[in-house]
Amino acid sequence: MGLESGISRTRGTRKAGTRKAKKTKKGKRVIYCRDALAWLRGRSGLECIVTSLPEMAEGGWKRVEDYRAFFMEAAERCLSAVADTGYVVFLQTDRKRDGWIDKSYWLNAAGEAAGMRLLWHKVALRVEVGKTDLYRPGWSHMLCFSRAGRIGVPFADVVERGEMTYADAFGQTAVQAVLEWLWRQGVRKVVDPFVGSGTVVAMANALGMDAVGVDMDAAQCERARRLEIVVEK
Ligand SMILES: C[S@@+](CC[C@H](N)C(=O)[O-])C[C@H]1O[C@@H](n2cnc3c(N)ncnc32)[C@H](O)[C@@H]1O
Repeated sequence: MGLESGISRTRGTRKAGTRKAKKTKKGKRVIYCRDALAWLRGRSGLECIVTSLPEMAEGGWKRVEDYRAFFMEAAERCLSAVADTGYVVFLQTDRKRDGWIDKSYWLNAAGEAAGMRLLWHKVALRVEVGKTDLYRPGWSHMLCFSRAGRIGVPFADVVERGEMTYADAFGQTAVQAVLEWLWRQGVRKVVDPFVGSGTVVAMANALGMDAVGVDMDAAQCERARRLEIVVEK
């Protein structure tokens, strides 16, 4: 995999770029249509998790307290499922709701309780600088936790979010930057327990990593099985 790979595109949604796509050996992909909390229960020793925990609207929670309880349990299961040298990266967007729901604050509390170190906290831009969004901030968090993993070679602190497959998906450019950093740490298999439309698993495969995805929504599982991303080098 080239460390300086260029832009990504979802197959069939955009015209081919002018640069020629360089062949990388594609990774394998397995998608399980399951409840992620059950799938994660008792699991340990994973190399790496990269995920976006569900949005409040996706689960139909009415009260922030109930959503927070689910969010914290899901975060705790992700954090305890990786090996000591493993990494957990959360890609999350806050919500403006009677104030501000700060998911980075929640995740840092979960990380501390799990004895994990915050290796980095970066920002993916969702809107242009100077613009605003009524319901969500114009940027998303990208946080990486580990017990004994290395910080390694740093990458950009602020990145463009990039193309998204649906409103609650994470942007491909940001996911690419995270996965390229993980590749440099020696990670070759990525798990996304809330895989959604498959941005993380498709990008991992495009970069030559194996990937496992879990989602309890059958339609999302189908999308995650089919999504192909081409990384132009
Ligand atoms: C924020 S979306 C993930 C988006 C993904 N990163 C992407 O780019 O498409 C969260 C996903 O979690 C799924 N989900 C919600 N609760 C779940 C649970 N208990 N177990 C497994 N999946 C769940 C939803 O169906 C949704 O697809």
